[in-house]
Amino acid sequence: MCGIVGYVGEREALPIILKSLKRIEYRGYDSCGILVQDNGKMHVYKSVESIDYLKANLSESEYDGKIGIGHTRWATHGAPSKKNAHPHLDCKGEIAVVHNGIIENYQSIKDGFLSNCAFKSETDTEVIPHLIHQTFGKFDQNASQQTFGKFDQNASQIKEAVKEALSRLNGSYAIIVAVEGFDGLIAARKESPLVIGVGDRENFIASDVPAVLEQTNRIIYLEEGDIAIVKRDSIYIENSGSEVKREETLIEWTIEDAEKGGYEHFMLKEIHEEPKAIIDTLRGYLAEDEINFGVDFKIEGDAKGKSILMVACGTSYYAALCGKHIIENLAKVPVQVELASEFNYSDFVLDGTNVMVMAITQSGETADTMMALKKAKRYGCKTVAITNVLGSSATRTADETIYIRAGPEIGVAATKSFIAQLVIFYLLGLFLAKMPESEFLEHLEELKRMPQIAMMVLDEEDITIQKHARYLSKYEHAFFVGRGVNLAISLEGALKLKEISYIHAEGYAAGELKHGPFALLTKDTPVIAILTRDNIYEKTLGNVKEIKARGSPVIAIAEEGDEEVEKYVDEVIRVPKTGAIFSPIPNTVALHLLAYWTAKERECEIDKPRNLAKSVTVE
Ligand code: F6R
Repeated sequence: MCGIVGYVGEREALPIILKSLKRIEYRGYDSCGILVQDNGKMHVYKSVESIDYLKANLSESEYDGKIGIGHTRWATHGAPSKKNAHPHLDCKGEIAVVHNGIIENYQSIKDGFLSNCAFKSETDTEVIPHLIHQTFGKFDQNASQQTFGKFDQNASQIKEAVKEALSRLNGSYAIIVAVEGFDGLIAARKESPLVIGVGDRENFIASDVPAVLEQTNRIIYLEEGDIAIVKRDSIYIENSGSEVKREETLIEWTIEDAEKGGYEHFMLKEIHEEPKAIIDTLRGYLAEDEINFGVDFKIEGDAKGKSILMVACGTSYYAALCGKHIIENLAKVPVQVELASEFNYSDFVLDGTNVMVMAITQSGETADTMMALKKAKRYGCKTVAITNVLGSSATRTADETIYIRAGPEIGVAATKSFIAQLVIFYLLGLFLAKMPESEFLEHLEELKRMPQIAMMVLDEEDITIQKHARYLSKYEHAFFVGRGVNLAISLEGALKLKEISYIHAEGYAAGELKHGPFALLTKDTPVIAILTRDNIYEKTLGNVKEIKARGSPVIAIAEEGDEEVEKYVDEVIRVPKTGAIFSPIPNTVALHLLAYWTAKERECEIDKPRNLAKSVTVE
């Protein structure tokens, strides 16, 4: 995700802004930018290189000015480039904004209210400074001139203009606004975090605590809908039109703890970000009950000879297997899934005119998946990359790209990116579906409930999941079983457990164990069974009974209210009830937590498991 920082005080702003940005560098970024206000004049510096590069290319004379803002960008709208890097300014270059989040209705604002403005970037953010500029006229007695400096730093007018501009936005934001000649900064948030670091005759603003922790540990967490005027020696916060007081929190974490948001590991932080990854991914393509990927592809729902082939590796392969069920269930379009490393050397027969190939890859750099993508192109297939990383190799190779919006993932084991991939498949399934509108809307409503459903599973972490993890951590072998859309989730659960806890775990179709693996079932081989109440529930329950009869302890992942299951298993992890096709979301969150807490119990190196790398760029 992007990071934003701001400073207003008595010291030179530039080194402080650069240092703060360095502190959030670990989150990943593709470009960066800063603005310093020197004697009322604004100076902007941007780079598609690193923060160090930006620093090295600034001359000493530019190290002046006591107000500054900065940004690290993780591109969502528009490629990583200098022109798309923040801060973004209005037409006159008097209002500058750094922004975290996504403005959903930016295009309609550009085409409508701001149709007279000359935009310099492809970003959603750029509408904000232009909107502030336009709306400021309303609060300015000399609107015709619309020049800010002469207003003698009228904080209240500027704040009102920012509020008015923000009221036109749909989406999420944490923003910092600098205005030429104004001796402070305006900060505002909606659904994106923002904090104020309180200093002595200086104050800091940041999207993340680690950005300011080296300067101060006195932190004010802004709340939903807050707008703040931050000056050198004052902080004014308003919400819904009235002044509000926000308590200072004294942060005792080290900087390293703070980078992980107070979580012990990135993986745990990222699992806790799964609801947000769902929200952000939905927000990218869903507006007013319409799904729009903004890319050029169509596949007829009745699939006369048309089909999709997905190629992927590892966790992304399991996401694709789940995606196959989702798309076939919702859209009735045939989907085939191949491991990229196998596809590359197989005699696979590809009909380039009828098969659309989708490369599923979080990093967009996996060598096997890249090779598969190139092979598909050689066959003349239309290709689509589904990835988390803007500008990655997959995006440059495929004809079209659909971004998952999980934000940077630091833990080697993929978690929130897997969930975001599933969300894309739900959206794709509904996009391609030819179902009655009422049915479509019913599915959509269920999909929109998923962030809340994921949150409810996270609430079970302390009570049940940690208890089951302690139990599981004593074993050296485990099976994960599921059927239908949840077979892929059992494979994902097993992969997550084995890679971070080093317990040998295998994911299996529940009905398949009797064809061989039964020989391994003993009291020392626990089985984690996904028992969603779907159309094959009774069959899966039958498989569980067979497993129990062989003496294996069984932990079930089962829906709230399913009392039946208690009779046949040893332990139950409860997840909220959803439409069966959506059950992979809560089941995945539960299994990610189970893997994490089991590995923690075994004192493993969770974020960097042995022998593994985040991005596998060799064959
Ligand atoms: C496991 C994991 C890996 C990746 C695989 C593909 O938790 O992260 O299995 O899923 O290396 O990576 P991407 O999706 O970047 O192509």
